[in-house]
Amino acid sequence: MIAIDMGTAQGGAAATMDLEELLATRLLVQGNSGSGKSHLLRRLLEQSAPWVQQAVIDPEGDFVTLADRYGHVVVEAAEQNEANLQRIAARVRQHRVSVVLNLEGLDIEGQMRSAAAFLGGLFDAERDFWYPMLVVVDEAQLFAPAAAGEVSDEARKLSLGAMTNLMCRGRKRGLAGVIATQRLAKLAKNVAAEASNFLMGRTFLDIDMARAADLLGMERRQAEVFRDLERGHFVALGPALARRSLSIRIGDVETAGRGGSPKLLPLPEQPGDGARDLIFKPGENEVFARPAPRPAPPPAADIMLQISRPKLEPAAPAEEPADARTPAEREALIEATLREILADPEAAYRSVAVLYQDFLVRCRIRRLGGATLDLAAFKRRLSVARAGVDANAVDHADWEQAVAAAAGLEEDIQGVFLLMARAALEGAPCPSDEDVARACGSRSLGRARRLITYLESRDMLVRRNDLRGQRIIALPTLGWETGPGAP
Ligand SMILES: Nc1ncnc2c1ncn2[C@@H]1O[C@H](COP(=O)(O)OP(=O)(O)O)[C@@H](O)[C@H]1O
Ligand SMILES: [Mg+2]
Repeated sequence: MIAIDMGTAQGGAAATMDLEELLATRLLVQGNSGSGKSHLLRRLLEQSAPWVQQAVIDPEGDFVTLADRYGHVVVEAAEQNEANLQRIAARVRQHRVSVVLNLEGLDIEGQMRSAAAFLGGLFDAERDFWYPMLVVVDEAQLFAPAAAGEVSDEARKLSLGAMTNLMCRGRKRGLAGVIATQRLAKLAKNVAAEASNFLMGRTFLDIDMARAADLLGMERRQAEVFRDLERGHFVALGPALARRSLSIRIGDVETAGRGGSPKLLPLPEQPGDGARDLIFKPGENEVFARPAPRPAPPPAADIMLQISRPKLEPAAPAEEPADARTPAEREALIEATLREILADPEAAYRSVAVLYQDFLVRCRIRRLGGATLDLAAFKRRLSVARAGVDANAVDHADWEQAVAAAAGLEEDIQGVFLLMARAALEGAPCPSDEDVARACGSRSLGRARRLITYLESRDMLVRRNDLRGQRIIALPTLGWETGPGAP
């Protein structure tokens, strides 16, 4: 057995990784940014370099320093087209050369395409060259994203396909995938699911913690230990690492990463009056690309306000008499109008369009003409109202969190999520399918079930049954769960 020395285990013994076992399985490293994943990968690469061929997919150019000491060849992706990268990868397999694919300097779409081409080349190598090889992918969520992002569908398909091949079908071809991610919840499930060895570092988001617990078959409560891990400390589990979960501290590395924390350097001698000129006058041969102006994202507090408060339309048209009421009075009237509409039991089953018409008429009667809710704001308020939340609860900080979590969903589904959130907040039983149907303005239990399944597929909720078969629904984004309810 070839034991790779990773550092020290709890109790002071050496923490080892069985290289042959690793080559027959796969490894997933997870931990939030700064938890020490890249350092861990570097330790693994350095320690195993004498034993096994390696390829590193390196989005930040972190690993190029392996070249000086261990002879890895650096492939600069920015200087190659996709066809070339694929050919280079084929030769890498044929000649068994260790490489670092440096993706630095490419935009995200370019990184995905280049990684896909290169991984594709490794994967498609001729059968004669299926020698064992570690394929390390840092920041794997970039290449196997769980959800569509801003990149083209094509780039995403290529990259996700290559990662799926690596993790699901690479073994037969000698490729042992080692992937690291800072956001487990953002990593495609099928890619993560193939790993049987895990190194879990510090994780503070509930949704990542929940995913980690699921992957490791742990209780959510047990996964809480990941929250308090120090940098460089990981919990190890899997056939190549430890049969029972084991805390380990990753040891030192020989080569330096290029990332890491910024170091303080002494300032250059201050040129006195010259300083102004240095920054205000262009230097010789100075060329700047003008950066495209980017709209600043609105602050979180504003977003929260937008979704929990009515959106006021532009000032009232001139022919209307000036409104002497204060915004608070107007808001109270809007709230009362909404309540009036929903007081009718049939309202639960009317379409949004019909209810909105009704709302506008009632507003006109109250002379609220100029500044009421637009349709989108109305739908959001309706969702909140249908979830049965009263205005007092809406001010609650927890509730704002729930509303913020719901904001990413389609408006008519927000109510279902909020209904669950309310039950969880109140410690109430899990709402029945009928309750769910009512919250989305429908009598159809089938539709209710479909919406629950849909929310589950979006990772917004997770269903489970307690020992008596009663349904409990957990909300991973919030870290809450309902009490047991009707099966
Ligand atoms: N086990 C360790 N021992 C010493 N320093 C470490 C260790 N793990 C991480 N570091 C340092 O902490 C910083 C962040 O680690 P890094 O591996 O870049 O984190 P991540 O890749 O998870 O964002 C780096 O400067 C790294 O050198
Ligand atoms: Mg890193």
